Order: sequence, then structure tokens, then C-alpha cells
Amino acid sequence: MQRRDFNLLLQRSALALALTPWTQAMAEPVAQRISWRTQPFALGVASGRPRSDSLVLWTRLLLRADDAHLANKALPVELEVFADAALKQRVQVHTITTNAVRGHSVHAHLKNLKPATDYWYRFRCGDAFSAVGHARTAPALNADVQQLRLALTSCQNFEHGLYVAHQEIAKESLDFVLFMGDYIYESNNPQTLPRKHNNEEPKTLAQYRTRYEQYKADPMLQASHAAHTWVLMWDDHEVVNDYANDQDRNYTDPQVFLQRRAAAYQAYFEHQPVLIAPDPKRPYDMRLYDNFRWGQLADVWTLDCRQYRSAQACRDPLRGGGRMITQCSELDDAQRTMLGFEQERWLHDSLSVSQASWKLLAQATQISSTSVPAPTGRAYWNDAWDGYPQARKRLLQTVIDAGLKNVVTLGGDVHMNIAANLRQEPNNPDSPVVASEFVGTSISSRGMGEKAMSLIRCSNPDLLHARADERGYSLITVTPEMLRCDFKTTATPAGSEAGFKTQASYAVYRDKVGPQVL
Ligand SMILES: [Fe+2]
Repeated sequence: MQRRDFNLLLQRSALALALTPWTQAMAEPVAQRISWRTQPFALGVASGRPRSDSLVLWTRLLLRADDAHLANKALPVELEVFADAALKQRVQVHTITTNAVRGHSVHAHLKNLKPATDYWYRFRCGDAFSAVGHARTAPALNADVQQLRLALTSCQNFEHGLYVAHQEIAKESLDFVLFMGDYIYESNNPQTLPRKHNNEEPKTLAQYRTRYEQYKADPMLQASHAAHTWVLMWDDHEVVNDYANDQDRNYTDPQVFLQRRAAAYQAYFEHQPVLIAPDPKRPYDMRLYDNFRWGQLADVWTLDCRQYRSAQACRDPLRGGGRMITQCSELDDAQRTMLGFEQERWLHDSLSVSQASWKLLAQATQISSTSVPAPTGRAYWNDAWDGYPQARKRLLQTVIDAGLKNVVTLGGDVHMNIAANLRQEPNNPDSPVVASEFVGTSISSRGMGEKAMSLIRCSNPDLLHARADERGYSLITVTPEMLRCDFKTTATPAGSEAGFKTQASYAVYRDKVGPQVL
């Protein structure tokens, strides 16, 4: 079966899951017979953290009222891994026991896999089966890889629109989906919107679990997870808008806020195919930043811009978080950090010695500037890298000092498609372009109005493309000679007949810094 046909099949199967019988006659005895009254795999399946020999596979049992008598039992979940889409060649089988402490989530760290290989998998608990998922391992570490294809995605506010972009992504032939944060949104909007969150703003683990359950039940999101392996980073909304390290916008006592962060991080772990759980001794800490090697073709870093950052510069004393700032001397403070000094060092050390043809720095927000003129001087959005200019300078200094070519940053958060030149001194033609940036628009979250966007465009010559009016994803195709970015968008994300088109295409050619329009 062709990959594309299989992806279509997967998509249909995920979409139809709620409509079809989900129990099957058992072909073999299982360790423990459990008979379910409602489908426990209603949140779908997922794969993540691709290595050349390993993957993380995920699901979570959802126990509804009819099956509440199972809630306090240890439940064995069988995982079958196959080498073919027809599920004839079973290559691994595992039993993972889950329980209420971990929200009945299931994480399997599969090992001894073959590089650059497609696998299919499904879970079973008692008489219930999950949908079938597809996963793909990374190539061998030194493989001569000719192509990497990924979908850059972020920002999927459930209330703002349907996940038609995920429906499209599920049909694509990809190595992985790169999701750069704002997987859930915590706030509830009183306006009339295409759909509504179904619980109060989450602050406790139980409330965050309920929020994820609503998101994870979406059939188009499930289809995207079932079709592809995902590489994940979070941004702020997985906890609360504009949080920075141990600070929230309301100046909550950090010890109190960290309890909320611990609940949010635990819920994140329980719902994603990630390897490392929150630290049991410090449950508000969870290491998510990582790097991935795609043979000799590309090194990919996923950078955490929330957990370790300094608070935003020149915050409003009544309401902290993001805002436009002018005349802020804090911006010159070299002690302020976006990544935290430990993560900065880790990145510096591994980036400086990277031998890969392409170095892809994936992070949650925007590195290029969107500053605008104001009566009291230049105004900067203090929540993005514009609010951390010394940290941005250090990041780009690493690129300069190591003489690195072919550095491309990939971001999200701002709900706009951006292609930009990155200079140490943004928009200063005397400061050389040292890297290229692409930021992908949101899956569903609304973007800025056109008036503000046209001011941003004409105030920042480094921005070669900046549009916030459409939703979608960015298809990134990397070959030894070129990195190509196709912004795939729809103007009607809330419509079930959303037509997708290519809004614009850019290329970065090998050893030639800066995106070129195609
Ligand atoms: Fe967002």
C-alpha cells in the first residue's frame, strides 16, 4: 500500500472511530480479561521522539462513568508493533501497566528498531482496540540522507476553528510533524466562536486533564497523530498565557504558581508521546528540550523558551506578561535569558560542533523583530525574542563564532507566516545576515489584523514575508542543496470545506544565507 493511500485510510479510520464498533473478537487470550462498556481509546494514539533505533508510543485510557469500577485497578495494556500496514508482520509486543496515578496514560519507549523505517502499531486493553498508528524512525546517525520532509505547526486554540490543517497534514508524506507549542489553550473566550471549551480555566491536574481530553478527542487531530510521528515543544498556553519561568501575569507568589505549573506539566506528559516525565522531586520541572539528528543532512534542536526564561522586560506593574514596551533599559541587561543559561550552554556546545549540512533551531516563538516606531522611540513586543535582545545576540554570536552555515530557525506562537533574514542587529543593513528564519502560522488560533501587520512589514525590512490572515501549516523540505518552505494555508479554517493552497514558497540555498522567494 502506498504511504499516501495508507494515510488516507488512517484518516478515515480515525474519523470513523466514533461511529464503528470498537471491540473485536479476541484472537488470542490476554493476561486479564476486561470488558469495556465505552471505548477507552477515545483519545487516539501518538508516536514521538524519533531516534534511529527508538520511538516513544503513546495512548491514554479514558474511563467514563460506565467503566468507573476499573479506575483504581492496575490495567495492563498490550502494544503490538508491525512492519507492515496490513498488520501481518508483528515485530514487537509489549505489555504496559497503567493506573490512575498517571491518569491511565501509556508511554512505551520502543527500542531495537531499524533506522529510517516505517512501523505500524495498535494498543489493546481487554476487549478494546485502539486505532492503528503509523510511526517512522530517524535515519542512521551517519546516513547519507537525501531528503527530510516535515510539517511545522503550532497554536491550535480549539475555540477559534476546526483542525482542518491537521486533516491536510494527515494526507502528507512526512518524516515528522514539528509542533512548536500552544497545543491547548487555557483561557475561555466569552465571544461567539466556532466551538467552546467545555470546562473552567484549568489550574489543577484534573482540570488540565479535562482540557486535554477535549482537544485529544478531535478526530482531525487524532488523524494527524495517527499518520505521523511528532516532535514536540511547548509554549505558554500549555500552562497559562505569557508565563515566564515561575512568574505569571498576575504576580502570583512563585511557590503557588509552580504548583499550577506542576499540574500543567504532569498533564502535558500524560497526553504526549514524550520520554521524560516531570521530576518527582521537583514536579514543576520537566526537561523537554532535545536534539535530533537526521543522518548527515540535518541536526534539529527543539528549544524550551518558557521554563527557564527571565521575566518579560519592563512589565506593567498591575498586569504582567506580554506588552509593547519602549525606552526599556532592562533590554540591555546581559543577565536576562530566553533559554536559561544551562540550556544556552548545551545549545552552544552542540551547535558549535554540528557537522550536519543543515542546522535547524526549532523554538516556540519569533526571533526576527516585529518592532514598530512609536512617539517615545521604537516599541518592542516583550514576550518574543525582541524582549530578549542580549540573548538573541548571544545565540547568533554562536553561529558567527563557529562559522556555521545553513542555520535555519523554525518558530510559531505569533500566528503568522514569516520568512526573514536574521542579523545580530535586526534591520541594520551593516549587520550581516547570519541565519534564516521561518515562522509558521497557527493551526486555528486567530492572527493579528491587517493594519498592524502592514505597519510591522513596513517597519522591519528583515521580514521578507509576514502574513497573519490565514491558518495552516508550513511544509519544510530539506535536501543537501536546498531548504524549501511552502506555507500551506486556508482562509476559512472554520469551514468544513476549507480549501488549502500554497500562500507563498521560499528557499534557502546551501551556503547562501537568507530566504529567497520562489
Ligand atoms: Fe498561540
